[in-house]
Amino acid sequence: MSSNMELIGRDEINDLEAILSVTNSDVDAIVHAVKSNSDAVFTWDYERSRLPLIKLYEKAKTSQWNVTTDLDWTTDVDQRKLALENFQADQAFFSETIDLKGTPFEKWTENEWVDFGIESQNWLLSQFMHGEQGALLCTARIVETVPWIDAKYYAATQVMDEARHVEVFAKYLDDKLSGHYPINAHLGLLLDDILYDSRWDMTYLGMQVMVEGLALAAFGFLHQMTSEPLLKQLLRYVMSDEARHVAFGVLSLQEYYNELTDAEMKDRQEFAFEAAVRMRDRFLQQEVWERMGVPVKDAVRLVMADEGRKEFQNILFSKIVPNCKKLGLLDRNNGLLRKRFTELGVIQFEDWVDTGEEYAMLDEVAKDRAADAAAY
Ligand SMILES: [Fe+2]
Ligand SMILES: [Fe+2]
Repeated sequence: MSSNMELIGRDEINDLEAILSVTNSDVDAIVHAVKSNSDAVFTWDYERSRLPLIKLYEKAKTSQWNVTTDLDWTTDVDQRKLALENFQADQAFFSETIDLKGTPFEKWTENEWVDFGIESQNWLLSQFMHGEQGALLCTARIVETVPWIDAKYYAATQVMDEARHVEVFAKYLDDKLSGHYPINAHLGLLLDDILYDSRWDMTYLGMQVMVEGLALAAFGFLHQMTSEPLLKQLLRYVMSDEARHVAFGVLSLQEYYNELTDAEMKDRQEFAFEAAVRMRDRFLQQEVWERMGVPVKDAVRLVMADEGRKEFQNILFSKIVPNCKKLGLLDRNNGLLRKRFTELGVIQFEDWVDTGEEYAMLDEVAKDRAADAAAY
């Protein structure tokens, strides 16, 4: 088994210095290029043979929505008022068990916490937007590299979905929020790794299973928490697409992984672990602490010590772990990934519902259309 140092560049998963040493040094750049190492693959086998993918493709064709016309952009969003309401509803960032005496937060008043709430939201939605662009590029890559016609058809619909997702988050940030953040360095490294890999199934594993699995859980959490109706509806629409995307990953890889040798599976297991750590690191939101003028290390140390925060972060893995289990990634090679996920503190989700079929339940567009039809 490769060491943590080889996989994630540090021995200790929670090595704070090492985590914070990864920063975005490229914040003023307008473009960022990643070298392509993969072949664009034609297939001459046009026969439709993969029923689950055919079903998914049909669903995708009838579940398209339109950012400009399906959402009510006249909704007035008062970001400060919402942040204040959150603060007053006692949604304190740190749990009560954390003693803030002697920390930079000891003297924070309502005002700082509200500013922090606003910055956190700007940061989070910015990362969603950047992640969506990663999905757009990865899925366009899959159209080229996957050797199956049914998967090429389906991936083409996902490219359109992802363009819509970048569009919707960019528009919400511009029209309703108060600032952007550059891409988080951990997220950036992960997206680069996924795009750099020449193996078509690694794009799926990195994007559809890991990044989109986490996104689906994160969107679900935010959808539940927010009282802002435009954001709520927007997230609901995005989630119905994302559930299809994760299903696409699981359904495609399930077939492919059955044929892989132990050595080949080991590469996939290690890649899944590396991706999981990078995503966990990204949610420490180091850039927000920096903008709030508090020592980043002190803040992140408190976040990592806070059991309540950990629980929230772990919930983000609630889709990834069962999907990895379904793909046989947890237990091949003597439970390699099981051990790593245990170390990361997320193995408890292994028997939660996987996303192979969940997309049908989450289809918001179909529900809206049915409701419209019933109203006539
Ligand atoms: Fe997306
Ligand atoms: Fe997606």
